[in-house]
Amino acid sequence: MEVIKHPNDIFRYTEDLKSNGKKIGLVPTMGALHQGHFSLVRQARAANDFLVVSIFVNPLQFNNSQDLTNYPRTLTDDLGQLEKLGVDLVYTPEVEHMYPTSPEVQVDFGRMAHVMEGAFRPGHFSGVGVVVSKLFHHTNAHRAYFGLKDLQQFLLIRRMVADLSFPVEVIGLPIVREPSGLAMSSRNKRLTPQGLEIASKLHEGLVMGKSLWEQGRSPNETKTAINDFYKGQKGLEAEYVELVDPDDLSEITENHSQPVALCVAGYVEGIRLIDNLYLRQD
Ligand code: PAJ
Repeated sequence: MEVIKHPNDIFRYTEDLKSNGKKIGLVPTMGALHQGHFSLVRQARAANDFLVVSIFVNPLQFNNSQDLTNYPRTLTDDLGQLEKLGVDLVYTPEVEHMYPTSPEVQVDFGRMAHVMEGAFRPGHFSGVGVVVSKLFHHTNAHRAYFGLKDLQQFLLIRRMVADLSFPVEVIGLPIVREPSGLAMSSRNKRLTPQGLEIASKLHEGLVMGKSLWEQGRSPNETKTAINDFYKGQKGLEAEYVELVDPDDLSEITENHSQPVALCVAGYVEGIRLIDNLYLRQD
């Protein structure tokens, strides 16, 4: 397994592969890898001739400097795991390689970025848009893999790729969960055992909401019931509960038969967590 740090080096390396007809898969990550990441890696491994995983904690997408400082970093372990999974190349650029000059360009994803994460994390998605664009260019990727855990991120990138004709196929893959139902996340590493238990309530609220929705409750009734459930959980502070169209993130205001995404964000022990669940009302 190769490890490359410099954008010019990986660009030349992957350009050669591409001109030899190899299909290149990319799994972009910020490291502190877990089974959620590995599931993307496994599927990407099976579908591509050459697999790149990037590990880069992107300062541009952190709207909170403490969150950036405290973000878990486990590079040696990560590299060992990726080697076992048969990854061909890990791209680990330094901040000064990625941003030799501080970018002036912002990525404005429009309406779909004004809700949920976009509303609570100003500048976050622009930072994601900039780094993901650069990663696509640096790695010459044909296909890029994203988790539906970050549903809004996946939808925005898919839209950017379509609207700006990036020559990349964007693939979204299901959420991997702990046995407790808690969605796996690098930030879970910062929770105490008690915090992990409280955090699993985030998913419990979603499952409860799904059952209410499927019984025919209205969007507002469903959201209120979930918010009330969260209010009853000591140590859990919900930030938002939204019912949205899983294609364009528009708000669901009346009962539908089409699929709906129930999305939540909340804090446990000062750590911000997100989760979502697909619902269908038949
Ligand atoms: P990171 O949080 O490291 O996540 C990397 C990828 O793993 C994302 O596509 C994310 O949705 C996916 N992922 C995380 N937890 C998952 C889970 N439990 N199940 C399935 N997939 C999961 O997302 C980022 O990094 C960054 O924003 C990035 C795209 C790398 C740009 O900096």
